[in-house]
Amino acid sequence: MSLCKQYYCPILSFLLCFLILASALKVGNGHNLEKQKPTNKSSITAVYIFGDSTVDPGNNNYIKTIFRSNFPPYGVDLPEEAPTGRFTNGRLPTDLIASYVGIKSLIPAYLDPNLSLKDLITGVSFASAGTGYDPLTAERNKVIDMATQLQYFDEYKKKLQRMVGKKRMEYIIENSAVVISCGTNDIVYTYVPNYLPQQPDKVAAYLHFMLDQNHGFLQALIDRGVRKIGVVGLPPVGCLPVVMTLHNSLYQPRSCIESFSSIAKDFNQMLKRQLTTMQASQQIATIAYGDIFEPLQDQFYNPNKYAQSTLEPKAPKNSVRAIFVFGDSTADPGNNNYIRTAFKSDFSPYGRDLPSHVATGRFSNGRLSTDFIASYVGIKELVPPYLNSSLSIEELMSGVSFASAGSGYDPLTPTLSGVIPMSKQLEYFMQYKSRIAASIGQEKTNELINKSVFIVSAGTNDFVVNYFTLPIRKRMYTIPQYQHFLVQNVHQFIKSLWDQGARKIAVVGIPPMGCLPIVITMASNNSITRRGCVESQSSVAKDYNQLLQTQLNSTQLSLQDQRTRIAYIDVYSPLFDMVQPSSNSNYSFEYVSNGCCGTGYLEAAFMCNPASYVCTDASKYVFWDSIHPTEITYYLIFKALRSVIDYIIKD
Ligand SMILES: *[C@@H]1O[C@H](CO)[C@@H](O)[C@H](O)[C@H]1NC(C)=O
Ligand SMILES: *[C@@H]1O[C@H](CO)[C@@H](O)[C@H](O)[C@H]1NC(C)=O
Ligand SMILES: *[C@@H]1O[C@H](CO)[C@@H](O)[C@H](O)[C@H]1NC(C)=O
Ligand SMILES: *[C@@H]1O[C@H](CO)[C@@H](O)[C@H](O)[C@H]1NC(C)=O
Ligand SMILES: *[C@@H]1O[C@H](CO)[C@@H](O)[C@H](O)[C@H]1NC(C)=O
Ligand SMILES: *[C@@H]1O[C@H](CO)[C@@H](O)[C@H](O)[C@H]1NC(C)=O
Ligand SMILES: *[C@@H]1O[C@H](CO)[C@@H](O)[C@H](O)[C@H]1NC(C)=O
Repeated sequence: MSLCKQYYCPILSFLLCFLILASALKVGNGHNLEKQKPTNKSSITAVYIFGDSTVDPGNNNYIKTIFRSNFPPYGVDLPEEAPTGRFTNGRLPTDLIASYVGIKSLIPAYLDPNLSLKDLITGVSFASAGTGYDPLTAERNKVIDMATQLQYFDEYKKKLQRMVGKKRMEYIIENSAVVISCGTNDIVYTYVPNYLPQQPDKVAAYLHFMLDQNHGFLQALIDRGVRKIGVVGLPPVGCLPVVMTLHNSLYQPRSCIESFSSIAKDFNQMLKRQLTTMQASQQIATIAYGDIFEPLQDQFYNPNKYAQSTLEPKAPKNSVRAIFVFGDSTADPGNNNYIRTAFKSDFSPYGRDLPSHVATGRFSNGRLSTDFIASYVGIKELVPPYLNSSLSIEELMSGVSFASAGSGYDPLTPTLSGVIPMSKQLEYFMQYKSRIAASIGQEKTNELINKSVFIVSAGTNDFVVNYFTLPIRKRMYTIPQYQHFLVQNVHQFIKSLWDQGARKIAVVGIPPMGCLPIVITMASNNSITRRGCVESQSSVAKDYNQLLQTQLNSTQLSLQDQRTRIAYIDVYSPLFDMVQPSSNSNYSFEYVSNGCCGTGYLEAAFMCNPASYVCTDASKYVFWDSIHPTEITYYLIFKALRSVIDYIIKD
């Protein structure tokens, strides 16, 4: 998943150009600004932002509105639009800009009550997701309209004057750069629902109205002492996910709605002319137009060109050399493709949202948390399955996954599904080591293993597929006894990895099992209408996780090696949070108890197949099929466990 794919990059590159121009700095010289004396007339003192969600760093967190997430014009593939997720709500472009020009690393929301003095002096964003040039747009969406943003700016100036004095305040404003990004919501939420796009005279009249509003706004800024203004045009509105979703038939392939995009194109032409005229009619302020239409359109039609660009977070510098993964479908990138089992996913719609759009054998629409971790640590974008015999020595050396969908810590579990047991995964790891040693020698192999991260993720199948479903283990063990049995097996497994040289080991707990769509379906009396989590099963997961943590601590102690790091990874809490109704969740998924594939109640593996109905926008779903998370969920889980990864990879 690339954060840059949808909206950010073009806006980002425009802002960069604009600010570089505005500050008369040469490219690449940005960092020096920080050290420059404020007396340098040509440098930017502050950055102010006005507009909508493209540039709102979170003002809407402080007002009553539903316009906090799931909202265009982003791809909405970005979970972080939710107000609590950090680099969200347009934080990304503005933040990068601010740090690029060296002013600060974040442009904070003006309404944030905790702004420091320095924050205020170097600029804030007044933008509000959901707003538009048309006051009606903001009113409907209950967000901050442009006139109020301007009022806030006045209020801000007074505050600034109290802090630094009138002269200094005027100097800061005069040497600041202002960026305005707005208009999409007017078209999507106000114009289109009220008039049909086919009525050309009405379109033109509305666009003129928007431009008049913008003209007034620019003039007001100039009157207030602003001298450098950049105005961002509209994106290809017809290619925005929300527009495509609303106006395409569900069963058609997604495509841009040309009639909508052409409205945006017309608007941009008119805006450009307006800005040129305004620039020509006065000499005091510099006004620039930023085109994001063409680059975005290009991205939509040529997505592969952009697939590599990524702004995902990166770990601090570290010496980790490789990543090794063991476990079940949460970590299997396709080992099951090479064995005889029904637990496979090497067919569409699996893998639909991978850059290659190819079903790799990952049980999701895209990447797994382990892929995101590998990328975060700086190793590779995808962790390949060990059983692919075509992997090059280089690919092998940066790590592989031995995991097998359907596996578990109880040896009976993989037997039921005909998949690779944990013991066999360990054997494969030993085989792997000999292969590497044959190529680079024993000593270097040991060093490689010593500096690698190990991730172990299993346990759910032991309960869902085995204990809860079949009588065998139930006859032998009570639930607490079975939990204990599993945790002992985890201990054995970790100990064996350690004996093989592993020193950085993360063990993933199990999710709230009672919230898996398939479990809800099986346990509920009316599986269509009653889809709350099955508390009894989740609490088994909770107890198991507790036991696991205690065991990992004592495993760590028993090894008597200060350099070894064994950590527990909690997936229970983030997932539990995600499946709550959006009103009391930190996330805002629309579908939390059914998957994107098929009915979402039952289908997984071969039942989710090329003939299945599949939802258009998987990012609205916590689950991809009835058991496995979507890519976005895996990404959010990865984000929630970053601090543990940081701990593990420390030298
Ligand atoms: C002020 O900015 C100009 C133009 O970028 C630069 O050449 C000059 O060195 C700067 N002066 C100071 C004192 O930083
Ligand atoms: C602002 O700071 C106070 C005190 O540090 C804290 O209690 C509060 O939660 C903060 N508010 C926000 C919105 O960050
Ligand atoms: C196996 O690995 C090779 C080398 O990376 C790759 O080209 C190939 O696509 C992989 N095979 C499958 C089925 O993924
Ligand atoms: C692993 O590396 C550390 C230092 O990088 C070293 O102190 C330790 O002895 C190594 N352990 C093994 C088992 O090679
Ligand atoms: C299902 O129905 C049975 C019998 O009416 C009842 O005992 C049970 O609690 C119900 N289960 C759920 C999950 O509602
Ligand atoms: C395990 O150890 C960690 C770190 O020492 C500690 O924070 C945690 O509370 C311990 N957990 C249990 C269940 O003992
Ligand atoms: C949301 O996140 C906060 C802070 O991480 C956490 O304390 C809270 O429990 C979460 N909310 C829910 C519903 O889980």
